[in-house]
Amino acid sequence: MSNGAAQRKSLGVGVISLGWMGRLHTRSYKSLAERYPDLAADLRLVAAADPVDSAREFATTAAGFERAYADYRDLLADPDVDIVSICSPNFLHREIALAAVEAGKPFWIEKPMGVGAHESREIAEAAERAGLVTGVGFNYRHAPAVAHLRQLARSGALGRVTNVRVWLIADYASSPQGPLTWRYDRARAGAGVVGDLMSHGVDLAQYVVGRISEVTALTSTFIADRPYPLGQGVGHAAVAVSDERGPVENEDYVSVLARFDSGVVGTLESSRVSVGPRSEYVIEVYGTLGSARWNFEDLSRLEVCLGDGGLNHGYTTVLAGPGHGEFSRFQPGPGIPMSFDDLKAVEAKLFVESVLTGEQLAPSAADGWCAAEIDEAIVASAEDGRWHTVEPVAGRTTFDA
Ligand SMILES: NC(=O)c1ccc[n+]([C@@H]2O[C@H](COP(=O)([O-])OP(=O)(O)OC[C@H]3O[C@@H](n4cnc5c(N)ncnc54)[C@H](O)[C@@H]3O)[C@@H](O)[C@H]2O)c1
Repeated sequence: MSNGAAQRKSLGVGVISLGWMGRLHTRSYKSLAERYPDLAADLRLVAAADPVDSAREFATTAAGFERAYADYRDLLADPDVDIVSICSPNFLHREIALAAVEAGKPFWIEKPMGVGAHESREIAEAAERAGLVTGVGFNYRHAPAVAHLRQLARSGALGRVTNVRVWLIADYASSPQGPLTWRYDRARAGAGVVGDLMSHGVDLAQYVVGRISEVTALTSTFIADRPYPLGQGVGHAAVAVSDERGPVENEDYVSVLARFDSGVVGTLESSRVSVGPRSEYVIEVYGTLGSARWNFEDLSRLEVCLGDGGLNHGYTTVLAGPGHGEFSRFQPGPGIPMSFDDLKAVEAKLFVESVLTGEQLAPSAADGWCAAEIDEAIVASAEDGRWHTVEPVAGRTTFDA
C-alpha cells in the first residue's frame, strides 16, 4: 500500500431526511470520489433516516445506503456512521443537531439553521464547545463566478466598494393552489421567505463584501391561505391538495435596507410568489472603479465593468473557466455550464475536508447563526419599523476568511 493510500480515512455517512436536500447531499457525497480523487477519504453510504416508508425504500435502493432507519436517533447511535447530514424541515434542526453533537458526530446541516436565531445560536455554540467542524447549506457561495466576483470586490479591482444589490425572486410558491407544506407555518419553518431565501442572500452578500451590521425591512404575505396537501412531495413539488385551506403564517415577500461594517450600504429583496422570474438570485457589487453582477440562473456568467469612462465603457461577460474557484473539478474547458448540484458537491468536499483536517473550511454553524441573527433583525424591523443593529456572533465564521 502506498503512503497516500495508507493515509486515507474511511468515513461512514449518515443522511437524516431524504427529501430534496437529503437526496442532493447523498448525490454530493457520491460525486466526491470522481470529482475530488485527491481528497483523502473513502466515503461509505451507511445509513439514512426518514419516517416515511417510501423515502427509506428509496434510500436502500436508488440511493445506495446500506440501511435505513425510521428514527434519526438510531442513525446517530450507529457506530458505523462517522459524519451526518441534517436535511430535515427547520423545526427538527435543533434537536437533531444537538443530538449529533452529543454523539460526537460532525454535521452538515441545511439552512436556515433551526427556527429562529436562538436555535441557531444553540446549535453553533454546542458544536463549538464540542470542537466539531460543521457545514451549512449556503451553496451559492461555491459558484466559480462568485469566487471571481469576491476576488474583484475584495482585491480593490472595483475600487472602494460602495453599495450592493441582492435579490432572490422565485416563483415556487406563486400558485395559490400550491400545498400548505411545513414551509408556511411558523412552528415548523419559522420565518417564510426571509429564512428560506433571504438567508442565502445575506450569506452571499457577507461572503462577497463583508459583515452586515444594521438592517431595516418590510415584509408582506400576498397569498393568505393555501390548500392542505393530501400526500407528501419532495421540495416544492406539486402534490394533490384538499378543498380545505389553512392560513399562511409567514411572509411571502421581504425588502431590506442594510449597512455593512465596512461602510458599504445595500438593498436586499426576496419573493417566493413572483410570476415571471423563476430562481432569479442576483448579486450586484458597485465600486468607485467598476461593478460586477452574477445571476444564479446563468451561474457560470459574470458581468463585469472595469470602467475607464472611454468609448468602450460597459459590461464585459466573463464565463467561468479553469482558474475560477472549483471550476476545473467539474468541466475540462472554459464556459461549459455547471449546475446547482455541482455547487453542493463543492460544499460536500469542503465539509469532508474540514472533518479530515479539523480546520473549518465549509460554511459553518457560526455562519448559519450569523445569518439567522440578521434574518431575525429583518423580521423584527418589519414589525416595529425601526433600524436593528446586528452584533457579531462568536465562533468560527468563514465568510470573511
Ligand atoms: N440549500 C438550499 O439551497 C436548500 C434548498 C431547499 C431546501 N433547503 C433546506 O433543506 C431543508 C429540507 O428541505 P427539503 O426541501 O429537502 O424538504 P422536503 O420537504 O423535500 O423533505 C423533508 C424530509 O424530511 C423528512 N422528515 C419529516 N420528519 C422527519 C423526522 N422526524 N425525522 C427525519 N426526517 C423527517 C420528510 O419525510 C422528508 O423526506 C430545510 O431546512 C430547507 O430550508 C435548502
